[in-house]
Amino acid sequence: MSAAGTDAIPKSAYVEVEGLRRVFDVSKPWLNRVIEREPRQSLKAVDGVAFAIPRGETFALVGESGSGKSTVARMVVGLLPPSAGEVRISGVSMTDPRQEAARRRLRARIQMIFQDPYASMNPRWRVGSIIAEPIRAFNLIQGEAAIRARVGELLRLVGLHPDDARKYPHEFSGGQRQRIAIARALASQAEFLVGDEPTSALDVSVQAQILNLMRDLQDRFGLTYLFISHNLAVVRHMATRIGVMYLGRLVEVGPKAGIFASPRHPYTRMLLDAVPDLAHIGRARTPVSGEIPNPIDPPPGCTFNPRCPHANDRCRSEVPRLIDGVACHAVEEGRLPA
Ligand SMILES: Nc1ncnc2c1ncn2[C@@H]1O[C@H](COP(=O)(O)OP(=O)(O)OP(=O)(O)O)[C@@H](O)[C@H]1O
Ligand code: SF4
Ligand SMILES: [Mg+2]
Repeated sequence: MSAAGTDAIPKSAYVEVEGLRRVFDVSKPWLNRVIEREPRQSLKAVDGVAFAIPRGETFALVGESGSGKSTVARMVVGLLPPSAGEVRISGVSMTDPRQEAARRRLRARIQMIFQDPYASMNPRWRVGSIIAEPIRAFNLIQGEAAIRARVGELLRLVGLHPDDARKYPHEFSGGQRQRIAIARALASQAEFLVGDEPTSALDVSVQAQILNLMRDLQDRFGLTYLFISHNLAVVRHMATRIGVMYLGRLVEVGPKAGIFASPRHPYTRMLLDAVPDLAHIGRARTPVSGEIPNPIDPPPGCTFNPRCPHANDRCRSEVPRLIDGVACHAVEEGRLPA
């Protein structure tokens, strides 16, 4: 454990995230604020998030809609500047202006895979051009014949045929399009893939194929993944370690086996209880209901307190720190049933 009480960051970590925070200004336009006498409003989408991913491992972020998963992902890949905190990938800071040159060299190695691959493909381009685009942009291979050969090889790697290079994206199914997106990510010699719900829009059987493909490629090329999903069965299949997010904060972090076998945070327990085939036999169920609160006006103390059956006065006034992988006063005080 580090001095801050967060999870220790292994020295060999490929991705290191510390104290990550993002605040959005969600104020109404100036004139409305003046007329309605309303102050500026801000929304803390991510607050104090820290984790590390050793090379070749998968860190999965889970949590309900609006918990800040995509905001973390966008900051990690450099699509969104953090309000505070630090992201280092392969030792290179994603925020320090002095490391711009190193960051540029690293850019090709960091790729994001989205839920809807179609949205990120030019529908008028043939698949061969789509996959070759990063090869050309980063000048990775010279000569048209060599690029064509590499595209064919990439198509085979993701379970498609080299002839598919001549087709357009609309000629493929959703699962095949996700394969094309993965081939394009690999084309740029990616080392680190960030998947934001990459299989959520697919049929269950197709989901499994894509997840297996991602795992195979990880084993083969030593890829490092940040994997985002609200589906715990998917997370169980993919993750090495898991971070559970609630209203912008990590409430529990740990190895997959520990989180699934003995979840400690009441919110983690609620998530696992909600999935019938993952429910624990022999442990008393903790029924928790309710909605995620409005992030513009979160409850004081532990933001989970309105939904938590173990909340007390301390929970309603003091924000719990992440201690030994869990942020909960009841766990710290040892008053939570095992
Ligand atoms: N550009 C933005 N401007 C204002 N608020 C934003 C912006 N982007 C995200 N938010 C807010 O930040 C919070 C976290 O959003 P985020 O998309 O990261 O959640 P998520 O966990 O990915 O949810 P989902 O599972 O629905 O994808 C939400 O309350 C969201 O409304
Ligand atoms: S800190 Fe309190 S309210 Fe929050 S999860 Fe723990 S027991 Fe529940
Ligand atoms: Mg999201």
